[in-house]
Amino acid sequence: MPDSRLAPAGVPLAALWRAREYLRPYYGWLLLMLAAALLATGAEIAIPLLTKAAIDGPIAAAARPGAAPGHGLLLPIGLAAIALGVAEGMLNMFRRWMQADAVVSMEQAMRDDLYAHLQRLEPGFHDSWQSGQLLSRATTDLSAIRRFAGFGVVFLITSVVNFAVIIALLIRLDPVLGLLTAAAFAPVIALCLRFERRYRVLSRRAQDQQDDLATHVEEAAAGIRALKAFGRRDLAAAAHQAQARRVCRTQVSKARLRGRFWASLDLVPNAAVAMILVLGALAVSHRQLTIGGLVAFIALVLQLVWPVEALGYILALGQEAATAAQRVYEILDRAPGITSPADGTGGGAGDGGGAAGGPAAGHGRPGGHLVPSRSRPGARLDIDHVGFRYPGAAAPVLRDVCLRIEPGETVALVGATGSGKTTLLHLIARLADATSGTIRLDGVDITSLPLPVLRAAVACAFEDPTLFSVSVRENVTLGAPAASDEAVARALEIAQAGFVADLPWGQHTRIGEQGLSLSGGQRQRLALARAILASPSVLLLDDPLSALDVHTEALVTAALGQLLTRATALVVAHRPSTVALADRVAVLDGGQVIATGSHRDLLQTCPQYQHLMTTAPPPGGSAPQAAVGAPAAGARP
Ligand SMILES: Nc1ncnc2c1ncn2[C@@H]1O[C@H](COP(=O)(O)OP(=O)(O)OP(=O)(O)O)[C@@H](O)[C@H]1O
Ligand SMILES: [Mg+2]
Repeated sequence: MPDSRLAPAGVPLAALWRAREYLRPYYGWLLLMLAAALLATGAEIAIPLLTKAAIDGPIAAAARPGAAPGHGLLLPIGLAAIALGVAEGMLNMFRRWMQADAVVSMEQAMRDDLYAHLQRLEPGFHDSWQSGQLLSRATTDLSAIRRFAGFGVVFLITSVVNFAVIIALLIRLDPVLGLLTAAAFAPVIALCLRFERRYRVLSRRAQDQQDDLATHVEEAAAGIRALKAFGRRDLAAAAHQAQARRVCRTQVSKARLRGRFWASLDLVPNAAVAMILVLGALAVSHRQLTIGGLVAFIALVLQLVWPVEALGYILALGQEAATAAQRVYEILDRAPGITSPADGTGGGAGDGGGAAGGPAAGHGRPGGHLVPSRSRPGARLDIDHVGFRYPGAAAPVLRDVCLRIEPGETVALVGATGSGKTTLLHLIARLADATSGTIRLDGVDITSLPLPVLRAAVACAFEDPTLFSVSVRENVTLGAPAASDEAVARALEIAQAGFVADLPWGQHTRIGEQGLSLSGGQRQRLALARAILASPSVLLLDDPLSALDVHTEALVTAALGQLLTRATALVVAHRPSTVALADRVAVLDGGQVIATGSHRDLLQTCPQYQHLMTTAPPPGGSAPQAAVGAPAAGARP
């Protein structure tokens, strides 16, 4: 499993900058938001200037000896201050209202893209990434980007503008004091740079550790039965605790670093205010600054406290968002390993097209001839010198597999556990691509067929029958969403899935997680019905009857026998009873098909087949025997 910490890193800030593409539809809104924020900041800054006007104008005039009583400009200045306060509040409300829509939509667009891309990526990618690594990217990382895009960006810009405008006003009020104040804030830059460097490392560490924790929780929930059955709950709890403690320690380090940074940021404006009090009083005493000017100066400097403090918070937010964007783009930048020749990318329709289009999807497109019809029983399948090595594996699983299956023929694939039977089926369905050799359907290289056409032509029932948390019907119609009720009922009948009628809501009963649980054999029969219903040209069945009792197995075998005459089929078989489905048997050993022939012939001529298909001698018994139920050669006439 590759550790995401070792994935090509890129630069977090560059990744965050790239994420702006998701905000593009909202650029107009963002400009309005920014304008509202800047106007609100302007209103806030104007209030101290009004205070100066009031003190140096009507208040100073009233304090002069012999001045006539009266308010002068005091009332208009007071009303203007109230109007500015109200305007600031309204503008902030308007900004927040716009912001919510833009950033939540941005987060949703990113999540949709991430999900679609995960669907496009080949199973090999999913094998090598832990579920927690993907989950936390799709949840916490996207939320971190949303928080920064909504709050952080606007406040970063307004804080910088606010800071620049206030410093300009201070210099205008008193150039020397203004420049001194600007110099007093210089350490903020050094503090920010230092914080940014250290916080980036901690952010990445925390997010990666959260991946591990999420994976741990998910595996513990999925494997709860095994943990309980082996009395390993305490061990799992201890492992979880250790994992959670690591996350906790990193979060505490992050919080402490933030705390130290914010405290140092707090010091700067407060020290500046103290300096101004002293120097400002001196300037007033030397008549270089009016009292109103000093009050406005101090009020403006106090207004710098919030932008500087906010800067600390925004930097932390930005750093987390940048790391999150980097982690999300590690997946989005990953090119699909299995691509469709038409679009060169595997395309959105790539892996989903087969399901969406059903068998008819091939009409009018390359490979449309592969659609099965009443007149032609399936396609010819050629496996030509095929080899395959799993990424990172020391040796190839398949070295040189050669096998031809004629249209409508059923071949049983027999081999020892781990010999590569499932792997070969995956190559035919292009769930992985062969590292050497060619697989052809009706003479066409499968890598040159559009993926939707291939997926419509080939249907699989895997050895581990995966069902989704939807109704029985939705599970069964995965490869043929438009199937009629009669077709679904027929597929369920062939797969001997009569138990569906006894479920509380029949075909519409929800199963899987948070739904009704089914037995292994029941799940296997639904997966078989799903493959049958797709009416493919090539049917791949990976040991489809392994979980059935002998009685049900015999019933399924009889019904399947009739169906298999209408498709080309490759059936992985461990038992003679499954071999009975086939016209011919192929023996896989050492990464090659070492023999093909009838069950009876192979028992005579192929020692490996004999070994696989015979029972061990009973204790005290003599020679091994052919397994019970061994079919006559060419069981299907
Ligand atoms: N995703 C994977 N990554 C690396 N190696 C794998 C992967 N899947 C399978 N293998 C290895 O490839 C070999 C063949 O596996 P495969 O599942 O094809 O065997 P099989 O013949 O179907 O076995 P079984 O009869 O037990 O189902 C095994 O040694 C297995 O460990
Ligand atoms: Mg297998």
